[in-house]
Amino acid sequence: MNMSFPKLRCRLEYVCLSCGARYGIEELHYTCPKCGGVFLLENLDFDALKKTPAQEWRALFDSRAASKRTALRGIFRFYELIAPVLEEQDILYLGEGNTPIVDAPASLAALVGRQFAFKNEGQNPSASFKDRGMACAFSYLQALVRRNKWDEVLTVCASTGDTSAAAALYAAYAGGPVKSVVLLPHGKVTPQQLSQPLGSGATVLELPGVFDDCMKVVEHLAETYRVALLNSKNAWRILGQESYAYEVAQWHDWDMRHICLFVPVGNAGNITAIMNGFLKMHALGIIASLPRLFGVQSTHADPVFRYYEESDPAKRRFEPVAVTPSVAQAAMIGNPVSFPRVRYLAEKFKEIGGEEAFQVVHVEEQDIMDAMLLANRHGHISCTQGGECLAGLRLAVAQGRIAKDERAVLDATAHSLKFSGFQDMYFSDSFPPAYEITPRKEYMNKPELVVSPAEKQTLNEQEFTIHVANVIAKRLNLQSKK
Ligand code: F0G
Repeated sequence: MNMSFPKLRCRLEYVCLSCGARYGIEELHYTCPKCGGVFLLENLDFDALKKTPAQEWRALFDSRAASKRTALRGIFRFYELIAPVLEEQDILYLGEGNTPIVDAPASLAALVGRQFAFKNEGQNPSASFKDRGMACAFSYLQALVRRNKWDEVLTVCASTGDTSAAAALYAAYAGGPVKSVVLLPHGKVTPQQLSQPLGSGATVLELPGVFDDCMKVVEHLAETYRVALLNSKNAWRILGQESYAYEVAQWHDWDMRHICLFVPVGNAGNITAIMNGFLKMHALGIIASLPRLFGVQSTHADPVFRYYEESDPAKRRFEPVAVTPSVAQAAMIGNPVSFPRVRYLAEKFKEIGGEEAFQVVHVEEQDIMDAMLLANRHGHISCTQGGECLAGLRLAVAQGRIAKDERAVLDATAHSLKFSGFQDMYFSDSFPPAYEITPRKEYMNKPELVVSPAEKQTLNEQEFTIHVANVIAKRLNLQSKK
C-alpha cells in the first residue's frame, strides 16, 4: 500500500515540569534555562486532534502497518501522536519499532500463574528500545541541521550501554555534519554494548565511576558547550519512546481492559514515555481505559521504588541512592533524571486509572537472573532487564496484586545477547559476592568437548566421524534404528 505522508502540522512547545516556563522548539533545550527543571514537549494543537473520531485514528494507524512508505513504517506510524512538526525528508528509519509481542508458551504461563507475553525490544536495530527515542531525536536534529545549515553537530550522551549504541548507530546513518560522542562508565557496560558505538565509528570516552557520574559530566557539557544532548532529558526521545505504548494498545485491538505492563526503571525515561503515550491515547478516546503499569527496579538500584514505598503522598521524599552491582546493569541508576516526569505523570495516571493503576515493585538480583533464565529456557530472548520484569510479575502475583484474568506485557528492553556475560557468570558460578547470586543447578548449562584433540590426531577422517558419532550416541543413550 502506498500511503501519502500526513499533511497535518501542529505547534509543539517545551514545558518545564518544575516552573511551568514554556519555550519554542526552534532551539534544542534539555533543561529549563530558568530553573533547571526537566521538559515535556506539549502539542498546543492537541485538542484539534479530538475532532477526528477515535475510530478513524485507529483505522489510520492500523492501515499504516501495511505502508511501504519508510517514513511511516516505524515509530512514525503514529506520526500525529508523536511529532507532527517533522517533514518526511527529515525522518530517519532504520527499522525501529513494530517489535513482536511474544506470548509465553502455556507451560511457562502455568508456572508463573498468569497469561503473559514479552515485547521484544531487542529486535530493534541496535537491539534495544532506545532506537525508538533516537529515531525521533535524530529526525528532529536533521530538521534543525537542514534549516540552520549547520556544518557540524556533536551529539553527546552518557550511557549504561544501550543509549550509546543507539545514538552512535543513528548518528552514523545520518552522517554528514552529525558526529557522535558517547561517555561510558569504565567496565560497567557489557563487551557487546561497548562494541556497538565502536563499530559505528563514534568517539567513545570512558570514566571511572557509574552512570550517574557520566550523566553529571554530559549535563555540564550540554550547559556549557555547543553539543546536542541525547539522553532522555532530551524530550524528543520521550516522544519517540511513546510508540511502545501505541504498539501495545494496537496489538490488543485498542482494548486495555485486563492488561498490565511491567517496565524496568533506570533513568525513568521509558516509563515516562509509556505513561504519556497511554494518557494521550486515552485523551483522544483511542483507548477507553488505561492499562495498569508496574515499574520494576532491582533492590540494588531502587530510588523510585523507595519513593512510592511511602504510602502517604505528603510524606514522600525523593532521595538518590548509591547503587550496588546489578545484573540489570542497564537500569543500574541511583538518581534518575526523569524522576520529576514520573511523579507528574503517575499522578495523572492514577487520577484516571485509580490508585492501583501505577505501582512500583523491587526485586532481588537472584530473582532477576532466575527469571531471565526461566524465560529463555521457554524460548524467549529476554535480557536481564526483561528478567527483572518477569521477577516483578512473579512477585506481584505472589502478593495478590494481579487478578486471575489479567494479562501482563513484559518489556524485554534489549536483546539477551547483549547481556550474555551475566549468563556466563551464572553458569560458571563466578559472580562477585556483591551481586548476591547463587546459581541454581537446574538452570546451569555448559558445553562438553566429546573427543579430545589428542584423540582426533590418532584417527583418519572417516574413523573420526564414526568414533565421535559413537561417543555421542552413548552420551545421549540413543536407540539404534535396527
Ligand atoms: N533496559 C535497558 C536495556 C536499558 O538500556 C535501560 C536504560 C533501561 C532498561 C532503563 O530505562 O533509563 O528509560 O528507565 N539504559 C540507559 C542507557 C540509561 O544509557 O542505555 P530508563
